[in-house]
Order: sequence, then structure tokens, then C-alpha cells
Amino acid sequence: MEIKVPLVDLQAEVAELWEELRPAVEEVLRSGRFVSGPNVAALERETAAYLGVRHAVALNSGTDALVIGLRALGVGSGDEVITTPFTFVATAEAICRVGARPVFADIEPRTFNIDPAEIEKHVTARTRAVIPVHLFGHPADMDPILTIARDRQLRVLEDAAQAFGGEYKGRKAGGLGDAAAFSFFPTKNLGAYGDGGMLATDDDDISQTARKLRNHGALDKYQPELLGYNSRLDELQAAILRVKLPHVDRWNEARRRVASRYGESLGGLEGVTTPHEASYARHVYHQYTVRVQGGQRDEVRDRLRSAGVASAIYYTEPLNRVERYGSSTADLALSEQASLEVLSLPVGPGLADESVKQVIEELGAALVR
Ligand SMILES: Cc1ncc(COP(=O)(O)O)c(C=O)c1O
Repeated sequence: MEIKVPLVDLQAEVAELWEELRPAVEEVLRSGRFVSGPNVAALERETAAYLGVRHAVALNSGTDALVIGLRALGVGSGDEVITTPFTFVATAEAICRVGARPVFADIEPRTFNIDPAEIEKHVTARTRAVIPVHLFGHPADMDPILTIARDRQLRVLEDAAQAFGGEYKGRKAGGLGDAAAFSFFPTKNLGAYGDGGMLATDDDDISQTARKLRNHGALDKYQPELLGYNSRLDELQAAILRVKLPHVDRWNEARRRVASRYGESLGGLEGVTTPHEASYARHVYHQYTVRVQGGQRDEVRDRLRSAGVASAIYYTEPLNRVERYGSSTADLALSEQASLEVLSLPVGPGLADESVKQVIEELGAALVR
């Protein structure tokens, strides 16, 4: 079946930006500087200014930003890190990679984010940190999380991979905890044309440690102080991201407009729950994720596909169900239920009105049959 409405259309984005991208890429190629050059340094300054934080450290991926962030926060072997099971696998993977253990706390059903009241229940003497994930572009409820962290002396690493430009009470997601991990995977709200990531923080020591860890444990490669990684962002990706950063607010607004058109039309459909935006949040709709109730989600998805409308399931199971990470015996009923009901619809900033209309009509038709 031909896909008429894809989930994202990166070729259209490249076409839109071509006149800006071409000279930026050409300049890097002609400069002969491909790693640790001026574009990375400038992107770090520009991203830090955008987020309202003192430091931004450019890295190879969002996964590395989580791993390096955890290590810079002092999380390691034998520690427990409380996070949500309703997230991409990289969140739990990063915790395990530093030798710690993920402990899963259930979600708030309306935002799909970790429920602060559940965190408290899982704190033990071994708990070192909390990773709230700003899932789908909706910031987690950070104030109660930061209060628990302060009272229990825990560090907070935001997983802001999906929430570039999102806001919590008027402040940017990623500028709220001790540090935050961003992903520049191509489909993200700010995406590179390859892998990339960023660690944001106000803390000088965290920033300095992350800068060492990304470069073989040393500011000077030949004097390693820590066991590090090669996790540098390259100049081509940095130059591309610098072209894209000034557009990100406009794109996020476009995503919000698509979401509000969906909301107006899908809000009244029986068997569908549209995404919630909490009063504290500015949702940037990395995903527009509805719930399809009544056990018909998979059927609805098949019907949409037959009608040429792409959709996706993030996530088919909570991470407590993934054997490698599933050590938790806690009651995670709300995450389990979400994984059975969620369906993400096309929501790119360039999505034409006509395509939005088509998705709305086809979803309506898929439900009533
Ligand atoms: C919630 C979340 N955390 C972490 C990551 C990892 O980012 P990356 O793919 O850049 O390694 C992603 C995205 O892929 C993500 O969605």
C-alpha cells in the first residue's frame, strides 16, 4: 500500500532549508576541519543560550548524553536510578551501561510521564538519581521531582531527547535538573542529518567532566584523567544543527497548530483520547500520541496503513517487560495499559493541511467500521 501521509518527511525539510544548508556544509568541507572545530563550539554557545543554561556539551548521541551525564553526576556501580518504564530503551540502557540498576516508577496516565508520587515509593538507600523523561515533547512535572530529589539527596538527569523547545512553567525543558540529555537523531524536534546529542547543565564540574569523558577522559587527549569515550559531535552535524536551531521555535509552533487541529476533530471521537497538555507545560509534540481504547488499537493501525496513513506505536511494551531491564516487580499497571493503547499519528512541522484532514478522516473511518 502506498503511504500518502508519512510519519515524518525529512526530504521536504532538506528541500526547504537547501539554500541555507548548502553553504554551511560547503564551508565545513572546504575548511578541512571536521572534528572539534568552530561549529561545535558555536553550537554549544547557541544551544546553551537557547536553553538558558551555562553549559552545553556536544556529543555523539542522546544515548551518550545519558551515559556521560550519569557518569558526570557520579552515578555508578551498585547505584539505583529511578526512571519511567514507558520510554525508549536508551534510558534504561544508559543506566545499566554505567553499572547502575534501573528502578521503574509508574506514569501519570494523562501525560505518559513519570508520576512524582510514585518516585517516593521506590527510594532506597542505594538510590542515587532520578531520570524523568519528557516523553513525546511534554515536560514531566519537575517541581515535585526536584523537591523529592532535594529531600532525599538524589541527582536529577532530565531525558529531554524528545523535548527540544518544550517548556515547564515558562522555563525550557532541559534547564531544570542537575543536567539534561538531548538527542539530535534526525527525526527529533531539532535533528541532525546523522547521530548527535548534547548534555546541558548549569554546573561547572559536570560540564568539565563531560568534556573530558567525550574525549578519551582528557581535555588533552594524551593525559587521560578518566576512562572516557570517543563521543564528539562532528563539524558537519554541528553546522547543520546551527542552520536548524533558529527555525526550531517556528517548527514547534507548527507542530502545536497541527496538534490543535487534530484535537478539535478527534477530541469528540468515541474510543479515542487525545493528548493532554498540563497547565504547567508547553507541549512541543515530538509525537502526537492518542489512546485508542476498547482493544482496537492494532486493528485501527492496520486500517490506517491500508488507507495510506502511517502511524507508530511508542512503545509496544514498557521496559519492565524487556528481559534485560525488567528486574522490577513493582505495579506498573498504567504503563502496561498505555503500551496497549497508544498510537502516534503524523505530526511534522511541514505536514500539509490536506494531510491533517486525511488523517482525521481516516482515523474516524477506521474506528466506526
Ligand atoms: C526518550 C529518549 N531517550 C534517549 C534517546 C536516545 O537518543 P539517540 O538516539 O540520539 O541516542 C531517545 C531517542 O532516540 C529517546 O527518545
